[in-house]
Parts: sequence; C-alpha cells; structure tokens
Amino acid sequence: MDGAVMELELPDAAATQRLGEGLGRVLPAGTILLLSGDLGSGKTTLIQGLGLGLGISDPISSPTFTLVNEYLEGRVPLYHIDLYRLDGEEVTDLYLAAYWDDQETAPGIVAIEWAERLADLPTPALCIGLAYADDGGRKVTLATPNAVYTSLLEQALSHGLLVDEV
Ligand SMILES: Nc1ncnc2c1ncn2[C@@H]1O[C@H](COP(=O)(O)OP(=O)(O)O)[C@@H](O)[C@H]1O
Ligand SMILES: [Mg+2]
Repeated sequence: MDGAVMELELPDAAATQRLGEGLGRVLPAGTILLLSGDLGSGKTTLIQGLGLGLGISDPISSPTFTLVNEYLEGRVPLYHIDLYRLDGEEVTDLYLAAYWDDQETAPGIVAIEWAERLADLPTPALCIGLAYADDGGRKVTLATPNAVYTSLLEQALSHGLLVDEV
C-alpha cells in the first residue's frame, strides 16, 4: 500500500469482524484507534473482532453505559471507549487522556467509538471510518499518518483475507 489511506468493502458483519481480528493480531500497545461512522455502521463489530485477535475471551459489548470497558487478559490491554451519549463537556470531564498520556494505565490499544466528540483528539495511529454501502454491507476507510502503521495495516488486511495478496 502506497500512501496513508485505503478503502475497502465489507460485504457482511463477518468481514467487519475479520478486519478487526487482523488488527488485533498485529497492533502494538500504545495504538489509538479513532472510529467514526453512523449508528449501526459497524464500529462495535470491528472492536469485537479486535478483541478476538488480541485473544480476549470476554464478550465485548458496547460500553454505552459504562463509557469505558477495560479488557486486560489479551496480548495487550484493550480500552474500549464509546462517546455516543456524551456531550463535549462530559467528554472533557472523563479525562480520557489518562489512557494514552499517563503512566498509570498499562499501555494498550485504545479504541474510541464516536471519536469525533473528543475536543482534543489524540494523535491517532489509525482513523477508521465506517459507512453504509448501497448493497446492505459497509464501506471502511482506513487512514494513518504514520508509516509504521501502514505496514501493520497491510499485515492485518492479509490476515483478514480482505485482500488476496499484499
Ligand atoms: N459489513 C457489514 N455488513 C452488514 N452488516 C454489518 C456489517 N458490519 C456490521 N454489521 C451489523 O451492523 C449492526 C450494527 O453494528 P455495530 O457494530 O453495533 O454498529 P455501531 O457500533 O457502529 O453502532 C450489527 O447488527 C452488525 O452485525
Ligand atoms: Mg457501537
């Protein structure tokens, strides 16, 4: 892959999950994933796959009421954040930067649904944008400003069998 952006079709929920699983196998601790897209576009499904790829056996559900779910049993910790129900001020009060700035939480993968609600966006490793496709499936846009993640992305996609060969 040359460049920092790619687009893929995800014909069914299993494809969304496989993409997440591929990412979960290769992404290092310290990775921030910003997920955006309408309600139902597949953000949680992708993170469920991520959990599988990390070797997390706890079922991953949307942290809509808890806001942050922490899973510590996998290859690296997963912090799953969903900002759907929050307004800007509430998001600020959560001090989510603790998950990427502080030494207090073990470095992990931070996956944020409705990341566009963050006032201070952390420097993302990957921006994942999901959208409805006309055929009932989904489209995903993957973007990274960081070349290290470009090659990890290629590995993740080849694992997920979303591309024949990279
Ligand atoms: N690529 C896809 N094609 C069709 N349905 C999908 C796809 N990915 C996920 N879904 C389905 O969409 C629904 C909503 O997904 P979810 O991950 O909860 O969305 P979000 O977290 O963005 O609100 C689920 O029923 C899920 O199985
Ligand atoms: Mg969700």
